[in-house]
Amino acid sequence: MIATRGGPSLHIIHIVGARPNFMKAAPVLRALEGYEGISQTLVHTGQHYDANMSEVFFRQLGLPQPDINLGVGSGSHAQQTARVMLAFEEVVTSQRPDLVMVYGDVNSTLAATLVSVKLGIEVAHVEAGLRSFDRTMPEELNRLATDQLADILLTPSADGDANLLREGIPADRIHCVGNVMIDTLVRLLPSASPPASVTLAQRYALVTLHRPSNVDDPEALRNLVATLDALSHHVQIVFPIHPRTRQRLDAWRIEVPRGDSFLLLEPQGYLQFLALQRDATVVITDSGGIQEETTYLGVPCLTVRENTERPITVTQGTNILVGQDLARLHTEVERVLRGEGEHGQIPPLWDGHAAERIADIVVDITETQPSS
Ligand code: UD1
Repeated sequence: MIATRGGPSLHIIHIVGARPNFMKAAPVLRALEGYEGISQTLVHTGQHYDANMSEVFFRQLGLPQPDINLGVGSGSHAQQTARVMLAFEEVVTSQRPDLVMVYGDVNSTLAATLVSVKLGIEVAHVEAGLRSFDRTMPEELNRLATDQLADILLTPSADGDANLLREGIPADRIHCVGNVMIDTLVRLLPSASPPASVTLAQRYALVTLHRPSNVDDPEALRNLVATLDALSHHVQIVFPIHPRTRQRLDAWRIEVPRGDSFLLLEPQGYLQFLALQRDATVVITDSGGIQEETTYLGVPCLTVRENTERPITVTQGTNILVGQDLARLHTEVERVLRGEGEHGQIPPLWDGHAAERIADIVVDITETQPSS
């Protein structure tokens, strides 16, 4: 491991808030531990707070307990973003870090970026440059604003670089480092094991749905559940349910079938969900990260969205965008069951070493630019 070359020590604050942040931050913290003279503070905004949305990930990923939890909880986008900003401003003001590292595209990512740059603190964005070109997605707005404001842009694939360059970001701020979430997958795949209490069929479709476009409209959600019900006659459905989706189902009294061929589960831990993906015949999802994990695992993925900010999973991986076309979803599942699913290939730099490249870059840049 390269050590920092003397000079004052470097203080980095990492900010995480929601489930998909945890597996991205974990390898970066580990990689930076290998350098001398770096102190790291982990701040959890508390955007996700249920034990099965947060705590279990810290444990399974080997993340240190957060040094600070801002406890912002749920709320409207403005409330959530504003609460993170108010609380995080105090942290940054009192700690004056040399660098703040933000992850992905959740509300906590944007809020922490805005606070930091306004206080003159450099920001590095891990998973920069992804674009769905769909501004109805809250995450797309978070991505656009974060990338305009951040100083160091760390992209998972070349399409990210191209998007940033097109938006006028200077090339010397952009670094293609590969997919840091895949670092975690590579490290923990040998430890993955399915949930103990669940009887899985030989072939099953793993389902996750939580995007507003699918679950915030009663008709859309009702139709999706009906399609899954129909599919459960051909293949077992295994559906770990996000709290947002559970609330909508309850509120609109949408009946979800239960039985051996339709398993409704609580949100799963990282190791359990990874095993469920690895062993699935097909995955049906509207998540971002799962499109990437299935590509790495070579498992066919059907994404119930009209667009993706991760196009490489379609052009190189196993992902197919079926949009809101539920007849298409049905046909594509049947295709997979006939053995005609996508096999794909693993994109460049999705090799388990992205965090090491990030650590090298961050240390290099912050060393050559004296902190103000
Ligand atoms: C957030 C991210 C999304 C990410 C997803 C992963 C934004 C804009 N969205 O969406 O990009 O894909 O996390 O899960 O940041 N809730 C609980 N317990 C929790 C967390 C949430 O019950 O621990 C419920 C709350 O009622 C909350 C709802 O879920 O209102 C949605 O949570 P929120 O953090 O607002 O957004 P997500 O839909 O989880």
